[in-house]
Amino acid sequence: MNDAPVFDENFRKELWRLIEWRRDVRRFRTVPVPQALVDELLDLVQLSPSVGNSQPWRFVQVVSAAKREAIRTNFQRCNADALANVSGKRAEAYARLKLEGIDAAPIQFAIFCDRSTCQGHGLGARTMPEMLDYSVAGMIACLWLAARAMGLGLGWVSILDPAIAARDLDTPTSYKLIAYLCIGWPEEEHVDPELVRLGWQDRTRLGRDILCV
Ligand SMILES: Cc1cc2nc3c(=O)[nH]c(=O)nc-3n(C[C@H](O)[C@H](O)[C@H](O)COP(=O)(O)O)c2cc1C
Repeated sequence: MNDAPVFDENFRKELWRLIEWRRDVRRFRTVPVPQALVDELLDLVQLSPSVGNSQPWRFVQVVSAAKREAIRTNFQRCNADALANVSGKRAEAYARLKLEGIDAAPIQFAIFCDRSTCQGHGLGARTMPEMLDYSVAGMIACLWLAARAMGLGLGWVSILDPAIAARDLDTPTSYKLIAYLCIGWPEEEHVDPELVRLGWQDRTRLGRDILCV
């Protein structure tokens, strides 16, 4: 198509910088996010890849104080459990981590995969039905970068009991929880992950090793 864009060197440099500076954000300013920005993001991520073009992501926006409290309680229990399962210096390090932004993030979404969707007619998911879940994760990666490009921060919370979250949010039984996302204006910007800065886990090059067969 002749109106296909040409992504020049300058654009590529900016895209690389966007990927370098995408962070998992847990500290948010409480300033509201205009609904138009949220709508723009949600429209954009409908273009994300998905198995069979199934678009199985389902967004549940968590708005009410009661529902947020339920999610916070869920997180606190699971996080206490996780802490109880480590000991010594690891436990001290774990206790120092901030692993969610539920208190301050103005926008919060529980993101589900609708495993019963007919969209896509099962293409590509017959032998590996988990491809539907991976499609949702792929959408979240797009959302993460697009939010960052708007100056917004996104934090992925997975320290939750999915069955309790589904009960508290009253979601259909075919919905599988993939992520709880906190979105808002970040309090601080960093080029390095918080888990690296706080000594929990360095980045490595392990994933760069290629096995040739
Ligand atoms: C599937 C997934 C689940 C995650 N769950 C959590 C979480 O529960 N709490 C948290 O603080 N960060 C969570 N993260 C963020 C990671 O800790 C973060 O991506 C990693 O430390 C690298 O930091 P960066 O995203 O800032 O580069 C999650 C990330 C992914 C991809």
